[in-house]
Amino acid sequence: MSQLFPGAVVEPVELTEANGTVCIRTAGASDVENLSVYFTGLSTTSRNKRFSGARADPGVVAAECIAKSGGLDNFTLLAELREEGRSMIIGEARYAYDAAARHGEFAISVADAFQRMGLGLQMMTAMETRAIDLGHEMIAGETARTNAEMRGLAKKVGFNDTGLGDWHSVHLAKRLSR
Ligand SMILES: CC(C)(COP(=O)(O)OP(=O)(O)OC[C@H]1O[C@@H](n2cnc3c(N)ncnc32)[C@H](O)[C@@H]1OP(=O)(O)O)[C@@H](O)C(=O)NCCC(=O)NCCS
Repeated sequence: MSQLFPGAVVEPVELTEANGTVCIRTAGASDVENLSVYFTGLSTTSRNKRFSGARADPGVVAAECIAKSGGLDNFTLLAELREEGRSMIIGEARYAYDAAARHGEFAISVADAFQRMGLGLQMMTAMETRAIDLGHEMIAGETARTNAEMRGLAKKVGFNDTGLGDWHSVHLAKRLSR
């Protein structure tokens, strides 16, 4: 994909707002610490939305994300901002395939300071492309009914409300096609 950014899953993009380049790539074992720093830096609101209010140690969550990303059907994508020789994680998307349900499930977050710049959209698109390459036919996810950002993003990339949610959450799904 890119000589400059090995492991990139889409072409790196210039982020004018941040004066740097964003690379979306697959996470690996060496990312645990930086991912933990990233989760710690999320606002309480964003962290609650990302983890559905569950209280968790960011270090443990980061280690779990990476550990579960080893197999072919599970991966974590990171959006990494590179500027002036330094790099920083500014977004992550986790994907796990549920063989019994025959669909992939996702969770995503973007650092507060970088929200509403198109990164969520790019990561969702990269995740779908990877899922299609794996031969998967459907992606599903759940979010709080009150989560306008996630509902807006999901709608924009073509997810529909399956009606399987409850009073608190919406269940969203999208059929994938090549
Ligand atoms: C949901 C989230 C990942 C969106 O990421 P983002 O990078 O800000 O999204 P984008 O800039 O790519 O926006 C894409 C589209 O999403 C929708 N959207 C994003 N933010 C929105 C908001 N605050 N209100 C309504 N719609 C919104 C819009 O349709 C937007 O398209 P537009 O800018 O052309 O209107 C981000 O808000 C986030 O990290 N939230 C906290 C964690 C979370 O809620 N995760 C979801 C549960 S797993």
